[in-house]
Amino acid sequence: MKLPSKVKLVDVGPRDGLQNEKEMVPAEVKINLVHMLQDAGLREIEVTSFVSPKWVPQMADNAQVMAGIRRKPGVRYSVLVPNMKGFEAAVESKPDEIVVFGAASEAFSQRNINCSIAESMERFAPVVEAARKRNIHVRGAISTAVGCPYEGDIAPERVELVARLMKEIGVQHCGVADTIGVGTGKKVQRAMEAALKHYDIDDISGHFHDTYGQALANTMACLEMGIWQFDSSCAGLGGCPYAKGATGNVATEDVVYMLNGLGIETGIDLDKLVDAGAYISAQLGRKPNSRASVALLNRRA
Ligand code: HMG
Ligand code: MG
Repeated sequence: MKLPSKVKLVDVGPRDGLQNEKEMVPAEVKINLVHMLQDAGLREIEVTSFVSPKWVPQMADNAQVMAGIRRKPGVRYSVLVPNMKGFEAAVESKPDEIVVFGAASEAFSQRNINCSIAESMERFAPVVEAARKRNIHVRGAISTAVGCPYEGDIAPERVELVARLMKEIGVQHCGVADTIGVGTGKKVQRAMEAALKHYDIDDISGHFHDTYGQALANTMACLEMGIWQFDSSCAGLGGCPYAKGATGNVATEDVVYMLNGLGIETGIDLDKLVDAGAYISAQLGRKPNSRASVALLNRRA
């Protein structure tokens, strides 16, 4: 078994992590979090989303947050964009990358973005074209790639279909997401294999919510396939407003701890990352949802 020698982590905490918080998190706090993550060595940060503020009020300060960030050379700042209206707003904030987000389940597509899978591709196509014309990198996310809160198990063929549709409209990178954290190693590998039919291994990433405590194991299952890019969320923040009961993303701290132990390079300073997770957790009035972070904080005390 040959594991990758390096891994790129995208911290989605400021976006996925905070989008579901009921209490408004001040823009200043979100900006501080981005700064702490980049100081910890994260090279890609998903900052916010340009979606309807009626649907996701927590992201209504998207432009303010993007404008407040002190950009660090070499860091890619990404934002979610569901349609042309979102793209036009996002572009003012000069993101390095946009993320269009579809789903492998029809029911989830309807609940999350209020349209079918086919309609979502029609909406994404002009967005992708406009982004690529401006040299903005385009990532696609395939939600509910192993299980859906409304439809149950999702067959790998569904993932393959959405990966193909995304490829056809020019999406450059395919993120395979276990939105509700129900996947286990083999199921996740099947979903990844389906996406790999249309995307190169260097253009694929995993996005695992940790609802059933499987996200680290699922990350390991992907590493065994040679997949080397993952989304994660500092302090295990996160959840989707349209996936009730689903918990946060796998904690970046836990992934970095595991990768350090495996001798896999991330470029991330775990101590500084723990500080970032502790900061945002304190702001939210809770403990970090990361076993590695809690252990390291206890050791410090
Ligand atoms: P819609 O209602 O179908 O859109 O929403 P519409 O085009 O009919 O427009 C209705 C209203 O929304 C209009 O305003 C538009 O201007 C406005 P009104 O005339 O009523 O005042 N509108 C917008 N406003 C701001 N920004 C926009 C925008 N578009 C329309 N971009 C829409 C469609 C997609 C906008 C809506 O369903 C929405 O915002 N959904 C939120 C989706 C979301 O953010 N979900 C969470 C992120 S995805 C996720 O977490 C999963 C992921 O982590 C991977 C995983 O774990 O699975 C990525
Ligand atoms: Mg997510």
